[in-house]
Amino acid sequence: MGRVEDKVCLVTGGGSGLGRADAIALAKEGAKVVITDIDKENGEDAAHAAGNGAIFLEHDVAEEDQWQLVIKQTLGHFDELNVVVNNAGMFIPGSVEEVTWDQYRTHQRIHMDGAFFGIKYGIETIKANGKMGAIVNIASTTALLGYHTSFAYGACKGAIRTMTSHAAIHCQQLRYNIRVNCIFPSVIQTPLIEKLYADAAAAAEARGVERPAPLPPEQRIPSPGLGEPMDVGYAVLFLASDEAKFINGAELRVDNGSVINPAAL
Ligand SMILES: NC(=O)c1ccc[n+]([C@@H]2O[C@H](COP(=O)([O-])OP(=O)(O)OC[C@H]3O[C@@H](n4cnc5c(N)ncnc54)[C@H](O)[C@@H]3O)[C@@H](O)[C@H]2O)c1
Repeated sequence: MGRVEDKVCLVTGGGSGLGRADAIALAKEGAKVVITDIDKENGEDAAHAAGNGAIFLEHDVAEEDQWQLVIKQTLGHFDELNVVVNNAGMFIPGSVEEVTWDQYRTHQRIHMDGAFFGIKYGIETIKANGKMGAIVNIASTTALLGYHTSFAYGACKGAIRTMTSHAAIHCQQLRYNIRVNCIFPSVIQTPLIEKLYADAAAAAEARGVERPAPLPPEQRIPSPGLGEPMDVGYAVLFLASDEAKFINGAELRVDNGSVINPAAL
């Protein structure tokens, strides 16, 4: 109990999936959580589920003025900010040949612009209170491996990985006492993944593609399986806490080893 006692933690995209799990994990260990999301209904529900006085703020992470407002509202409610979890995201499958400019820009705005604003305003606000702070960025294993269907998404997650390193060293050089780390989940069971699988199945059916017969057990490669949102929630909790005080610029895979055994994906 109390691993992040009284830390004010802002979680973007906290209304669903991983963000909701992060918010619940943080609140359970004493954090005062600010859940932000474009989805008001889910966001309010997640704040209720997290408890410990968690609040919800409507917020589009791609809009700079909304970041400025959310920071102001957070300081107005909780007086300070200690942790930002840059989690909000979306995914439209597509190879480099399939992806449209519009889809590519949408990924960039939500993932890259969103993380940029979260890191920039996070550092500016956290450093003002002089206490130990943390920024946790949610990337993806698509930042580390090539995938046929994830061009725009993977490009943005790769950028988030690099933003993490540069921001981490910036904070270390200027002795800000703010750590910036990055998490790389593989496939975690959330609404984003459920929609992806449903869309892929519908597209395959529409094309008349038959599913291949399953391999006999002795020929199967052990699968890393699907993770649960709380698998990421606990990793966020650790990196947000002072237990991780000497961990800065780290890249933590939450993938049950899928990246070191890509054939099993
Ligand atoms: N689920 C996975 O397997 C997986 C794997 C790797 C990385 N991720 C990343 O984890 C993060 C969360 O994904 P998830 O699986 O929980 O998805 P999800 O769809 O369950 O939740 C995403 C949340 O982000 C919110 N959101 C979308 N656009 C937003 C915007 N512009 N501003 C604010 N909020 C916005 C949505 O409303 C939703 O509540 C994403 O960054 C995603 O890329 C997920």
